[in-house]
Amino acid sequence: MTSLFEPTTLAGLTLQNRIVMAPLTRNRADAMGVPKPFVRDYYAQRAGAGLIISEGTQTSFAGQGYCRTPGIHTPQQIAAWKGVTDAVHARGAKMFMQFMHCGRIAHPLNRQVPDAPVAPSAVRPAGQMWTDQQQLQAYPSPRALETAELPALIGEFVAAARNAIAAGFDGVELHAANGYLLNQFLASNTNLRTDGYGTTVAGRIRFVVEVVEAVAVAIGSGRTGIRVSPGHMFNDLVDANPLETHCALLDALPTADMAYVHVMLPNAFSPQLNNAGDPQAVLPTLRPHVRGTLLAAGNLTAASAENMLDSGLIQLAVFGRLFIANPDLVARLKTGAPLAAPREDLLYTADAAGYSDYPVTTS
Ligand SMILES: Cc1cc2nc3c(=O)[nH]c(=O)nc-3n(C[C@H](O)[C@H](O)[C@H](O)COP(=O)(O)O)c2cc1C
Repeated sequence: MTSLFEPTTLAGLTLQNRIVMAPLTRNRADAMGVPKPFVRDYYAQRAGAGLIISEGTQTSFAGQGYCRTPGIHTPQQIAAWKGVTDAVHARGAKMFMQFMHCGRIAHPLNRQVPDAPVAPSAVRPAGQMWTDQQQLQAYPSPRALETAELPALIGEFVAAARNAIAAGFDGVELHAANGYLLNQFLASNTNLRTDGYGTTVAGRIRFVVEVVEAVAVAIGSGRTGIRVSPGHMFNDLVDANPLETHCALLDALPTADMAYVHVMLPNAFSPQLNNAGDPQAVLPTLRPHVRGTLLAAGNLTAASAENMLDSGLIQLAVFGRLFIANPDLVARLKTGAPLAAPREDLLYTADAAGYSDYPVTTS
């Protein structure tokens, strides 16, 4: 029986247990993308986890889509994050930073730069997003990236990776899930490119592979992870064959040397996957294509996580929403203590309320 609560190692790092806090966007940065002081308290409170993955963080102002999300591309942002990683390390957890370039999932009112959001192709997403100034607004059309712009875009990820290490992070996670820029390159409805970075599966995975390889060269493969969400219908993203795309992606990545591959399980009712309603059914398909550590998130419980660890499908179990209102989640899962429900109305608000003020109930 593999216990969730036993220490383990991840790419040479010692983890105090096999529980990972998922990346959770909470919009507690200032307008310039600097995390507010109480962000440090929030993460430190949750550092009973073996590993914390930060909320999605932009690698440049151009990568921002939502209001009040943090960045890792200015000295002020790096300094604020250093305070966070110091506090998390002091409580024994390790911390990776998730890099989120939103691509077309962006609104000009949420951004500090006047340029239109960029994407693989000029395909406007259906739907609306929140802006503090004008509440819900329709997504604008993105501008398709020129081929000649791609090396500089990769350079932003590399510079951000160096900044994250300077800020004390133990590694970075490239967000290629949930319909943001890297996922937009992977999927057939958002990538209509004909320049070698689209059209075929090999073309659609190419940009993501190049980003991972460049970041791995800069900070080390063992400091580089990736998050994917095959079949998860989110942000108007549809891939004609998500498992084919993702198996090809994983085969092309240096997964044996990378820190990990992190799978966000699809919604059980996703019509894209013929998995009889079992979201965990994607894992047996993906597992042979991951030659290293595999993490999974999505409605996990302590019992389902231990089953997945035992069967060897995953090596670390990722919990998202449960961490929001249960800062001492690890202790609560271990002792069977009751779990609190989050205040949904305060998930994305600007202050400490409903964020760093959830009480610890275990000793
Ligand atoms: C408030 C909120 C914010 C989220 N922000 C992110 C994010 O920044 N990056 C990301 O990859 N996933 C994000 N997710 C998805 C979570 O990481 C996680 O995969 C999801 O909630 C499923 O896990 P769970 O059932 O344990 O909550 C977010 C989810 C929630 C509820």
